[in-house]
Amino acid sequence: MNVKRILVLCLFISFLFSCSSEVQNTDPPKIIPAPNNIVLGKGKFLLNSNTKVTYPDEFKISGEFLVDFIKPKDNENQEKNNTIGFIKDPTLEHNEGYSLDIQPKRITIKAKTDQGAFYAVQSLRQLLPVEFETKSTVDDVFIPCVTIEDAPRFQYRGMHLDVSRHMFPVEFIKKYIDALAMLKLNTFHWHLTDDQGWRIEIKAFPKLQEVAAFRKETLIGHYSDQPHQFDHTVYGGFYTQEEIKDIVNYASKRHITIIPEIEMPGHAQAAIAAYPELGCTGKAIDVATKWGVFEDIYCPKENTFTFLETVLDEVMTLFPGQYIHIGGDEAPKVRWKNCKHCQDLMANENLKDENELQSYFISRIENYLNSKGRQIIGWDEILEGGLAPNATVMSWRSTTSAIEAAKQKHDVILTPTSHCYFDYYQSTNPTEPIAIGGFLPLEKVYGFDPVSEEMSKEESKYVLGAQGNLWTEYISTEKQLEYMAFPRMLALSEVIWTQPNHKDYNDFVLRLEHFNKRLDALNINYANHLYDIEGDLVSNNGQLSYTLKTLTSGKQIRYTLDGSIPNFRSTVYKTPIPIDSSITITAAVFDSETQLGKVFSETINYHKAVGKTIQINETPNEAYSGSGASGLINGISGSDKRYGDKEWLGFWGKDIEIQIDFGDAIEVESIKTRFHNGHGQWIYTPREVAFDFTLDDGSHVTDVIHLNPDNEILVDLNYEFKTPKSLEVKVKSVTLKIPNYGMIPEGKQGAGHKAWTFIDEIIIN
Ligand code: ACM
Ligand code: ZN
Repeated sequence: MNVKRILVLCLFISFLFSCSSEVQNTDPPKIIPAPNNIVLGKGKFLLNSNTKVTYPDEFKISGEFLVDFIKPKDNENQEKNNTIGFIKDPTLEHNEGYSLDIQPKRITIKAKTDQGAFYAVQSLRQLLPVEFETKSTVDDVFIPCVTIEDAPRFQYRGMHLDVSRHMFPVEFIKKYIDALAMLKLNTFHWHLTDDQGWRIEIKAFPKLQEVAAFRKETLIGHYSDQPHQFDHTVYGGFYTQEEIKDIVNYASKRHITIIPEIEMPGHAQAAIAAYPELGCTGKAIDVATKWGVFEDIYCPKENTFTFLETVLDEVMTLFPGQYIHIGGDEAPKVRWKNCKHCQDLMANENLKDENELQSYFISRIENYLNSKGRQIIGWDEILEGGLAPNATVMSWRSTTSAIEAAKQKHDVILTPTSHCYFDYYQSTNPTEPIAIGGFLPLEKVYGFDPVSEEMSKEESKYVLGAQGNLWTEYISTEKQLEYMAFPRMLALSEVIWTQPNHKDYNDFVLRLEHFNKRLDALNINYANHLYDIEGDLVSNNGQLSYTLKTLTSGKQIRYTLDGSIPNFRSTVYKTPIPIDSSITITAAVFDSETQLGKVFSETINYHKAVGKTIQINETPNEAYSGSGASGLINGISGSDKRYGDKEWLGFWGKDIEIQIDFGDAIEVESIKTRFHNGHGQWIYTPREVAFDFTLDDGSHVTDVIHLNPDNEILVDLNYEFKTPKSLEVKVKSVTLKIPNYGMIPEGKQGAGHKAWTFIDEIIIN
């Protein structure tokens, strides 16, 4: 080869190299919550200890956060050509928006505010190796060039934490706040007072610390377990004002506002235990030792208002944010009904019922807080009896209350039990740790839209955002709290931050699998259901088959049909499994020879109604609609514990009629089903079920069965269809008429509300 040729070759190679540093990036960055606009660039930025970080004074929080995270050397070696620069750009539209422009020689963060810049830093953070999370320094990290322009969909992005039922150390509260900040959430709703403990130091009332902060023991196991058992151990404590100031300050350095919640008029038993004169009866009571709703609530006396205003004065000195949450939920009115003071007050103020008295109570407190320049938030019960004039509604019982609030032109924050209660079960796996109940899997959280289709465009403007709630009756440890919060908090962050057209559950799952390594580095005990299997019975023209799927791609599902545990040699699932008899399907996810996740098992009981036609006169409640009416005759029984799974159907206060049509008439011997009877969750087994059989000659046979359960949680209905022996009877269809239990009696959870009915598979043989 001559010199000339070598020269040409060298030129060619160097051309290749220069191009390779300019190659087009093709992998979108894996960021949660997903940014709203990503344009992939060419080449990479090299982050090392000589990287220079520059930021204006106004962006001190975000600038310092980044410096603390990447720890660049602060010396003269810092390169001008290797800079991360923050620029304040007042022309940006959105206060919390940012742009993050990564070029080979410079990263530019532009924002209108420090808060926007902070979110740019959180995005950049997720482009860096997780080793940075553990405070180690990493040198020579290449960051693929990309330009992100981003802003949140909603202004209120919150997580709640109940520290009354169980409390957590200051350091852990900070860890929780750190996680919120990483996910671009901006509000921490701190539920500080409740029946089971008062957790905020109020200097004017020392008994709140001495008495209200402690309960003498705590319920063991689930509220539904009978009889109730207790641990005979004093539990309690409170956050001192110094600790609270420290936490508020810590949060503000992460652009998180803390909204304190001081519950009234209900959930006040701890305060009344300390100062019995705050209640209607004046009698001594204990701080509550079990969960639920209690009848001793604040009596609207002048003394009570003075007490609450004094408490709120101290609260306002600690929490500088605009909002104070005043509770307002679950306040039974029995004490007020039997209290002379309350009844006289209602007469004097022209209040027509106790709901209006509650509204009077809340409006007075609102008036006081408004006079101090603050705004109130209350749970959606504050709609009953008339909304206080300026209140923001936190909608929890349904999304209907949110629509109602918006119609009344009040701001609303969505936190419905159906999508935002992270104290609910997240998996139907029987090995899940004990939870309050319900069923809220990750995908359901992800699918939430705070703006209801039933809202007009104008009404939707009142939706400030959404929030995940963590009630801690069944969460007593930090590990368990993290398990319930993660990853559902990640899904929620995307619900609130990302525009719907940029959301994609499958893509979220991919990013989550990646993000889990960051949670590992942060020592966060997240639940991992990525390798769970989901099964579905599908009917195609009466032909039944069973499908299996798992969330993550690139892995195999292997299964058996003989009840044995699958291993890496078991059949790989490729197409739906035909079902024409009773069968047990057992499956697991494998990555080559390694089993990931837990074993899944489903038994299909192929009875006479499977695949037939079913109709119900009422639609189940949206939160408990299972897999619809057909789920009652799909051969699969519901979970013994998760009545919110795909198999149970829940109806609130409705009389239901279920008609099953067999097509060709069949012989029927028995009908079995079961009802849930969880009184703590307002669920009652119906008092009776009536049957109406249509026979093949068109005649009807009717019958009725009465149910009279004691305290059992699951109530079996076993009905035998008896007809005169002489008759050859075939049945064309059967209707089950199931009247609702009716009003929940006084003294029970949910007293005065209609009961729920929960029904499982209807097994016909
Ligand atoms: C609530 O869950 N009681 C607001
Ligand atoms: Zn009273």
